[in-house]
Amino acid sequence: MKATVIGAAGGIGQPLSLLLKQSKYVSELSLYDVVNTIGVATDLSHINSAAPVSGFLPENDGMAKALQGTELVIIPAGMPRKPGMTRDDLFNANASIVYGIAESIAKNAPKAFVLVISNPVNSMVPIFAEVFKAHNTYDPKRLFGVTTLDVVRASTFVAEAEGRPTEAPQFHVPVIGGHSGTTIIPLLSQSEPKFNGDQKAIEEVTHHIQFGGDDVVKAKNNAGSATLSMAFAGARFAEAVLAAAQGHSLERPQYSYIDLNADAQGAEQIKSVIGNDTAFFSVPITLGRDGVSAIQPLGQLSEFEQKAIKEGVEALNGNIAKGVSFKPTKL
Ligand code: NAD
Ligand code: LMR
Repeated sequence: MKATVIGAAGGIGQPLSLLLKQSKYVSELSLYDVVNTIGVATDLSHINSAAPVSGFLPENDGMAKALQGTELVIIPAGMPRKPGMTRDDLFNANASIVYGIAESIAKNAPKAFVLVISNPVNSMVPIFAEVFKAHNTYDPKRLFGVTTLDVVRASTFVAEAEGRPTEAPQFHVPVIGGHSGTTIIPLLSQSEPKFNGDQKAIEEVTHHIQFGGDDVVKAKNNAGSATLSMAFAGARFAEAVLAAAQGHSLERPQYSYIDLNADAQGAEQIKSVIGNDTAFFSVPITLGRDGVSAIQPLGQLSEFEQKAIKEGVEALNGNIAKGVSFKPTKL
């Protein structure tokens, strides 16, 4: 299947493109950015894996050409954080960028799976949904906020806290909610294998998962945020979407920040936990040929997790409303 990376020359875009170039699920790779894509594409094209690679710039309708015939678009375009910033502080810079990208997808690849990495994910995904609705191309089963990095971090940090190897067989830890601070809600009580930590350890690991992104921003010291771990996580999720679209059944649920209308019936159980006011939430999903085929139930929650959901949902609702009401100043 043809995959397109928008923001392909950036810190995430380059390693993500490299990983997709090596993927058995990608038969053609198309790269778009406002700078440097021709160089990145030429470089990648020397790798002897199957997918041919092409690079496009804004000139000559480059984004439209990059999107022609694509079946999956993954978007790490936009500004990353600097120390002291929240993800929400990126809203003004990135909302207009993703709005333009969403319009181009609606016109040029209306049936593609759309995977949003750009921050703040909590607000950017609702912007995509609104633009697609305006173009009558919206299918909530095909729009995904990429929250896989939270799941990857949870697996790593739980293994470390347990003094176990971090590599496979990995810990499977559901992470639900959104993608920023307290909206990131790890369900450590459902870890497989079991997490044996006491309440203090649960609180420490939960905080580490919720604020792991800040640690990378601080360590990079003005040179951006997580890029390599994000490329790993983005490629993993993209491959899951592509594998399911190609008829493979996946062993485990994936977690992604989606419109709960993607499976109204499955969402009933989620709403009984989080309330009816939250339209987008990262939930366990089954993927199929057409994207989300089912939203799975959340399972048994601890008291600590129920409290975290209450707190997270409040912040998340504000982020969603901000995305839904966004209108670019210049059309
Ligand atoms: P970066 O600055 O290194 O790269 C961003 C790229 O986007 C640049 O190459 C830039 O030229 C390009 N770009 C800007 N405007 C564009 C447009 N209109 N069309 C196409 N490309 C455009 O940043 P990065 O470190 O790669 O991060 C990218 C985004 O991903 C940030 O918003 C960051 O916060 C976010 N992020 C999300 C997660 C997550 O878990 N979802 C994790 C890490 C980073
Ligand atoms: C992350 O979780 O690493 C990303 O969202 C980037 C950030 O700003 O922390």
